[in-house]
Amino acid sequence: MAENILVENDGSVQLITINRPDKLNALNKQTIQEIGDAVRTADASKEVTAIIITGSGEKAFVAGADISEFANFSGVEGGVLSQQGQNTLFNVVEKCQTPVIAAVNGFALGGGLELAMSCHIRIASDNAKMGLPEVTLGVIPGYGGTQRLAQLAGKGKAMELIMTAAMIDANEAHRIGLVNQVTTQEELLETAKKMAHKISRNSSVAISKAIQAINDGYRDGVDGFESEIKHFGDCFETADFKEGTTAFLEKRKPNFPGN
Ligand code: COA
Repeated sequence: MAENILVENDGSVQLITINRPDKLNALNKQTIQEIGDAVRTADASKEVTAIIITGSGEKAFVAGADISEFANFSGVEGGVLSQQGQNTLFNVVEKCQTPVIAAVNGFALGGGLELAMSCHIRIASDNAKMGLPEVTLGVIPGYGGTQRLAQLAGKGKAMELIMTAAMIDANEAHRIGLVNQVTTQEELLETAKKMAHKISRNSSVAISKAIQAINDGYRDGVDGFESEIKHFGDCFETADFKEGTTAFLEKRKPNFPGN
């Protein structure tokens, strides 16, 4: 039974709420494990077509990794923390075959921004504040932040934001490509759900192949164009493709079987 997250369904959309509001939803080891498990379970479920991750309360999405947990770590322990976190949660989210949307409802700092960046899409409320302040603690981002911020906002911006430890607001995050959309606080979850339901109307098989092809372009030693060719070809063998093309030719809406 998860203690630090809430999981609920809105139709086929699963909402995972990180629920440690008194610690601004900081990611301790247990919370990382619980979110990772919930994402894996949702990804394995045929019923779930999209996942939304958000934070409880009005103040924070996630204010970072739980500093109290690693303050006395050795170098070896620090490396293990980073590796385990990436394996247990951040890479799981990025590689999830089901679309994952971060609904960034407040502070997304350090590991919080890294979690949002590992999601496929980010929607932020206008009170959200984002940054990677790790260098103020004498450490660097360890949950993929040095890589994913550069991928999303460019190398120069990543250098600047990580070196200055600056906190930017939602509109600036939108301007630099870090978030896809900005809404009011009141509309955040509805906007995320609307997008999730819109995605859910499309072929889940094609969506999972698109996620893999896009991710492959950022993997060392993997040619994203070759990956696209393979996944494109594979789509032609699916029932979803048959249904999608047949529905188009019959001038009706498709009813994708999801395989
Ligand atoms: N790890 C552990 N605890 C955290 C935390 C974190 N990353 N961020 C916030 N908290 C805890 C605080 O210790 C405090 O707990 P307490 O009430 O038991 O003392 C509680 O959450 C509320 O935080 P507080 O600092 O009082 O709120 P604030 O509104 O004054 O400030 C922040 C908000 C986000 C600016 C501030 O909490 C902060 O700077 N957090 C750390 C951000 C960070 O460096 N993250 C990267 C970690 S690698």
